[in-house]
Amino acid sequence: MTITQQVTSAPLVAVVGATGVQGGSVIKALAESDKPYRIRGFTRDVTKAAAQTLKKRGVEMVTVNLVVENKEEVYKAFAGADYAFLVTNFWEHMNTEKEVSEGKLLIDAAKAAGVKGIVWSGLLPVKKISGGKYTKVVYFDGKAAVTDYGRASGVPFVDVQAGWYTSNLLAIPAFLAKQLDGTYALPWSIRPTTVVPMIDMENDYGLYVRKVLEQPVFPDGSALYTSSEDISAEELARQLSEVTGKKVVFKQVTGEEFANAFLTLGYPATVTGALIEVFQYFDEFGCYGGQPTAPSREGLARPTRTFAEFAESADWSKVFA
Ligand SMILES: NC(=O)c1ccc[n+]([C@@H]2O[C@H](COP(=O)([O-])OP(=O)(O)OC[C@H]3O[C@@H](n4cnc5c(N)ncnc54)[C@H](OP(=O)(O)O)[C@@H]3O)[C@@H](O)[C@H]2O)c1
Repeated sequence: MTITQQVTSAPLVAVVGATGVQGGSVIKALAESDKPYRIRGFTRDVTKAAAQTLKKRGVEMVTVNLVVENKEEVYKAFAGADYAFLVTNFWEHMNTEKEVSEGKLLIDAAKAAGVKGIVWSGLLPVKKISGGKYTKVVYFDGKAAVTDYGRASGVPFVDVQAGWYTSNLLAIPAFLAKQLDGTYALPWSIRPTTVVPMIDMENDYGLYVRKVLEQPVFPDGSALYTSSEDISAEELARQLSEVTGKKVVFKQVTGEEFANAFLTLGYPATVTGALIEVFQYFDEFGCYGGQPTAPSREGLARPTRTFAEFAESADWSKVFA
């Protein structure tokens, strides 16, 4: 644990989403480092348990609502930071315009604070990569627009893309569903052999951000493609069965069926197109548009976990209740 507030020579890293999956992983990885860091985490509610836990671990927790209507406070929140980790949360509001404007605001605020580098959690421009074929994967395209803005900002800028969270299987029943016969399925509209970069976010994502921050020279302009293990959908189901002892099969469904499972969970119809097209894009181009994940994994402070290791350590009791 090398989080400090006393050593003023330690770089101050401002972390957006500190109480969430991505920011939490970044803080975990920096805390594991033998290099000291000062960490400032942002939250809208400093009294919540996750914020209090971080505070006890030495993170300076700052209450701020990171929205354009609150520009002045957002700028103040970044003051004094040496580096910034930025992420937007599309799924909280599912509004691309809002995601893009807030992403740009975060870049502007970090720039105004004079940071030496921004690490941004982006995704690829699906519309561009697919030559205009897939136009609805807005939570990729929105983040890609923010990436373009960041790269043009003049601040050293690195894009650390998040793969497909292994924890999606624990959190969202549309990804791992009980069947009528009592067995379980991954009912996805993707080919069984399509390989997905699965990332154990909590344990592994932050390692990539730490790698960026600990390079002798901040690797301006680069992009990292995170993955704990690249694995096909059918192999995921096989390993999940093996580890949990439950019968889990991969079941290829139509895009409409896949999207409907989300609508049943209360997702708005506005994201139907995105949910249908995202797996079509994965099938045709791959999550990372064909970019390999191995070079990004090189030089991480510790090895990433395999999917089986994640599955062995996860609590599946709620999923298989
Ligand atoms: N699931 C996947 O497989 C996957 C893959 C790639 C990318 N992603 C992307 O990951 C993003 C979500 O990141 P995550 O998983 O880390 O989210 P998360 O665990 O739900 O956490 C969201 C974080 O954002 C903070 N936040 C949200 N709105 C805020 C605001 N207005 N002001 C201040 N803080 C705010 C929250 O802080 P407080 O609540 O404490 O204020 C929280 O710390 C999404 O954009 C999604 O597209 C997901």
